Amino acid sequence: MQKYEGAMDRGLEGVVACSTAVSSIIDATLFYRGFTIEDLAAHSSFEEVIFLLWNNRLPDKEELQVLQQNLLSNMSFSDAEILQLKALPVKEVHPMAWLRTAISVLALLDPKSQSTQKEDQLFIRNALTGKMLSLVALFNCLRQGRDLLPIQKEYSMAWNFLNCLQGEEPTEEQTKVFDTCLILHADHSLNCSTFTARVTASSLSDMYSSIVSAIGALKGPLHGGANEEVLKTLKDIGSVDNVEAWLKNALANKYKIMGFGHRVYKNGDPRAKVLKSMSQSLCEKSGNAHLFEMSNLLESLMKKEKNILPNVDFYSATVYYSLGITSDLFTPIFAASRISGWLAHILEQWEDNRIYRPKGQWRGKAGQLWKPFDQR
Ligand code: COA
Repeated sequence: MQKYEGAMDRGLEGVVACSTAVSSIIDATLFYRGFTIEDLAAHSSFEEVIFLLWNNRLPDKEELQVLQQNLLSNMSFSDAEILQLKALPVKEVHPMAWLRTAISVLALLDPKSQSTQKEDQLFIRNALTGKMLSLVALFNCLRQGRDLLPIQKEYSMAWNFLNCLQGEEPTEEQTKVFDTCLILHADHSLNCSTFTARVTASSLSDMYSSIVSAIGALKGPLHGGANEEVLKTLKDIGSVDNVEAWLKNALANKYKIMGFGHRVYKNGDPRAKVLKSMSQSLCEKSGNAHLFEMSNLLESLMKKEKNILPNVDFYSATVYYSLGITSDLFTPIFAASRISGWLAHILEQWEDNRIYRPKGQWRGKAGQLWKPFDQR
């Protein structure tokens, strides 16, 4: 039996799996196409960031308007799509599982889903990016027994999502905060779900399948699922007075504290810093100041005890909660933003494709022989 003697990097930590020009993390700074995340969060819009991720440059005014109108058109569903989506169960179903299935349903209804023509793929890219946000809102409407409100083309994707989700018009501040969240989550180099999307795409499977794979990867609590878990943690802790004792017990039991730690950022996640200031102001305004105080204390105790800092999921939980969003929708919202990055990566993968096929280091028994039942 030949044994592979090469180096093994658990979790592929030290492995460079491909080259990419979509986003990068250099010295704890996150760049989308060379622009810092702080610059984009302060000045850009989600639609503009999508243009940037897909085209490797900022749009002019007209280009942005064209893309925005296209994405807004794609936020609506056809009658056939609504009919099939309404048939999916929503009670006691996690919205990430529903979303994963919903994308598969949309694939079945798209006669071009298997096309390898670039033009069709770009059409699907735009359609999926528009529809993902609406799917999250639709799930919420279906479980509340409401219809999705019509898309209003004079407003942004963020505004329309919040309007459809809550059934009432969001304020300018709520829209701006949510838009910033969408910008912050749009891409993040070779994170687990993006790598998953690229791996599926590398077999020359279709765009829908790559997105379904990515949703499955994002769903886990060690990746995108952490934001929902953060709110559960804060509710478990209950009050500021209980934070220290709760953390002591959790660390003594070797629990992973959700929303903390990162494979790449060891000195802090730049997205968490932007989210923290939004969380503070929103928590105070929405009567959730105690949640921010608990989060802040947890952050300083985690730093003191373990020198581990918050990641993007930590403060996004209280931001979404303060916007009145139900916690099981936090990860689907992450997916609805990250899909813009996933699609940029899938197309980049196809530009210079080679199938991903790493090796596994053998650690099983060798020389096994099959035996009939009476000899086992
Ligand atoms: N809470 C407690 N301890 C943590 C921790 C956390 N959130 N994150 C890392 N650690 C500890 C590990 O227990 C390990 O300690 P050890 O060396 O004593 O065993 C050490 O820090 C290194 O952690 P490791 O799990 O090897 O890091 P990783 O790079 O494999 O994993 C994460 C990175 C993000 C998966 C991990 O930090 C984690 O599980 N965080 C919580 C989930 C989360 O917030 N995910 C969202 C990421 S954006």
